[in-house]
Amino acid sequence: MKTLLSIVGARPQFVKLAPFSRAARAVFEEVVVHTGQHFDDEMSGKFFEELEIPRPDHNLGINGGKHGDQTGRMLTGLEHLLEQVGPDIVVVFGDTNTTLAGALAAAKMNIRSVHIEAGLRSFNRSMPEEINRVVADHTCDLLFAPTRSAMDHLSREGLGHRSVLTGDIMVDSLAFGLEKAGSRPGLFTSLNIEPGKYYLLTLHRPYNVDDPENLAGLLKQLANLDHPVLFPVHPRTRDILYRYGIGPFDNIRLTAPLGYLDFLVLQQHAVRIITDSGGIQKEAYIIGTPCITVRPETEWVETVEAGWNLLLDWRLPDFLQRIAAFHPRGERAAIFGSDVARKMVEQLQEKF
Ligand code: UD1
Repeated sequence: MKTLLSIVGARPQFVKLAPFSRAARAVFEEVVVHTGQHFDDEMSGKFFEELEIPRPDHNLGINGGKHGDQTGRMLTGLEHLLEQVGPDIVVVFGDTNTTLAGALAAAKMNIRSVHIEAGLRSFNRSMPEEINRVVADHTCDLLFAPTRSAMDHLSREGLGHRSVLTGDIMVDSLAFGLEKAGSRPGLFTSLNIEPGKYYLLTLHRPYNVDDPENLAGLLKQLANLDHPVLFPVHPRTRDILYRYGIGPFDNIRLTAPLGYLDFLVLQQHAVRIITDSGGIQKEAYIIGTPCITVRPETEWVETVEAGWNLLLDWRLPDFLQRIAAFHPRGERAAIFGSDVARKMVEQLQEKF
């Protein structure tokens, strides 16, 4: 049996790992490595538990620091580990510093590697995630693209021969999560909100949160919405809020980061979702809740083209009116595919 080594480290990667691992373990011996990039129980531990992911075999405990420093320490740690384990295949997910370090470590050691969620482009090189995904795509041997536009980007960069359109693995995570979550009636009472009468907000991109004036301006605007805004706060954002004493805002209810299952149910019943997360834009589309993305561009262009995702600049004078006037109703085609993890594992068996 071939050994496959999956490298994860940040919250969205745990979500992607869950269905992949389940499918992969039927035919490969899988070793899971957690770099430690996200380490709190609420950003990491809880996800392993709720998504029923086996405990990582190794945890490198690497987090914090500047990007180059964090990525460099991961690269050193992963090189040692790859020497020790000697896997046949390395698997990396998404676009974080963990993805970059994993892809580089495998390439330097001539170990075959696969990138899950390949080909996404924002064409904004000031995003650390954009650099991470471009480098991962160019160094990995097999690229699993979630959408047709991702496939087109890969072809344009001369990577078409290494790429396969598999669909998006988060479709499988979502199906599992929704079934497991059920309706969770106590959730709304505990958060003091009513289904269908709240906005759900997440913000963590450096572009939105690192400048305190920008973050405060955006939140001040959102505090004027017609329903309460539930805001599970990412640690990066929490640090900025505390450091600069931003808030509180009457209409904005801050909570700690929530577990995957609670968060899915909250997405289902929100009047609108307001976010800068990539994964949430997709989940909102599949679930059928209108999504406002507070970024100038998105990697998930299909959700915008279908009319279910609106890119919006909070500095526009009619920002709030545009949110209120956004009523998508069109059909939602299955642009992210289905039964994705199984297709990925079949490809791995065939190609490696
Ligand atoms: C990272 C990813 C981003 C992904 C996001 C999901 C990169 C470049 N960015 O951003 O692509 O969308 O994760 O959440 O890899 N922290 C805690 N507790 C934790 C995790 C982080 O306190 O459990 C703190 C860190 O110490 C750091 C800050 O939050 O000070 C930011 O964490 P970091 O891993 O650098 O990047 P994210 O902003 O989370």
